[in-house]
Amino acid sequence: MASPWWSRDGLEVRDGRLHIAGHDAEEIAHEHGTPLYVYDSCRVEINLRRLADALERAGVRHRLLFAFKANRHPAILSRIRKMGNVGIDACSPNEVSAALEAGWQAEEISYTGTSLSRQDLDQILPHPLQLNIDSLSALEKVGSRCPGRTIGLRINPGVGEYSATPTASGTKPTKFGIYPDQFEQALEVARRHELHVRGIHFHMGSGWLHDELPVFHAAVCRAAEMARRITELEYVNVGGGIGVRLVESHRAPDLDAYAEGLAKHLNPLHTTVLCEPGDFAVRDGGVFLVEAVGVDVKGGTTFVGVAAGFNAFAIPVLYQDPQEVVLCRAADAPPALTCALAGHINEATDLLADECRLPEVREGDILALLNAGGYGPGLASHHCSRPHAARLAL
Ligand SMILES: Cc1ncc(COP(=O)(O)O)c(C=O)c1O
Repeated sequence: MASPWWSRDGLEVRDGRLHIAGHDAEEIAHEHGTPLYVYDSCRVEINLRRLADALERAGVRHRLLFAFKANRHPAILSRIRKMGNVGIDACSPNEVSAALEAGWQAEEISYTGTSLSRQDLDQILPHPLQLNIDSLSALEKVGSRCPGRTIGLRINPGVGEYSATPTASGTKPTKFGIYPDQFEQALEVARRHELHVRGIHFHMGSGWLHDELPVFHAAVCRAAEMARRITELEYVNVGGGIGVRLVESHRAPDLDAYAEGLAKHLNPLHTTVLCEPGDFAVRDGGVFLVEAVGVDVKGGTTFVGVAAGFNAFAIPVLYQDPQEVVLCRAADAPPALTCALAGHINEATDLLADECRLPEVREGDILALLNAGGYGPGLASHHCSRPHAARLAL
């Protein structure tokens, strides 16, 4: 039988059963309980190297910054830290503290926060972080507190719509970044406070796929135009957002094409390109294991009830991402039903997957929700007094 589209080293079907990092997924679930996040810690290093290699091939002078919020499991962080050449993208003072505790030096951390408060500044300004400022008011605040500091400007290239849900940059105003029409004013505020602007940062939004590469490169092109107005430019940070193939019909961005676009627009600036992968680094290295508790047909729709909910796994509900689900004991069996995965939170929106095709499911079966390595636990809540899911790194 042909391997399922999602199988790869570390996520395989052996004798019909799902294996993660060489371990039988159902056995892991029985040993550790569910709901459970399981991470294959090798995968993050493989993904970061794939990206770095593509940038290298395209001749882009670069540095990777792992988006801390995507996964803060100690084993994942230690794997990244050991690579030695990957810094951190942080967006809150607590992320900075956690990154410092995990062994990064402040100089290796880039901070790009939004709605910066005075309390945030109290905590971050004492550290020699790379600081990207995303609004005129924040620029005034930082400038009046530490004139002479070196900073970057988070801009909004005003390009970047690629999905029905709002993206971080685009023509429709978002809270993120300094738009081109205020860029000159931002430089003026920086000059007034003697701030040294050395970098440009933008983040278009997350989860874009191969077909969105031209949109991303258009945003890079616009960012390059703005970066040209900075006399002592040291870096252009292009954010994260590289999407992962979530369902068979998706086409993941071609990394060489990604890197070649960066080379085309940014190499003429003789600058360092910073990339902040989150999902790309960790998403496909994790699965979320849940137990099936019952199967019911209601109004013609089959609902497979599971003992987990969006309080523990919010991604499908928050971002409406499609979700691939695998029956662990029969991972390559042909589908017998189309169903929705109904969680145990008392909200109609608590569907962890929709229209998924599965073999016959029985009470007690363990289901694996793939591509769960990014953002899951960070978004968890105790809604309905349901507990968070445990995490296991292999
Ligand atoms: C500024 C910034 N950089 C990087 C990322 C990481 O994005 P992704 O996980 O889509 O790669 C985010 C995510 O929100 C972000 O806001």
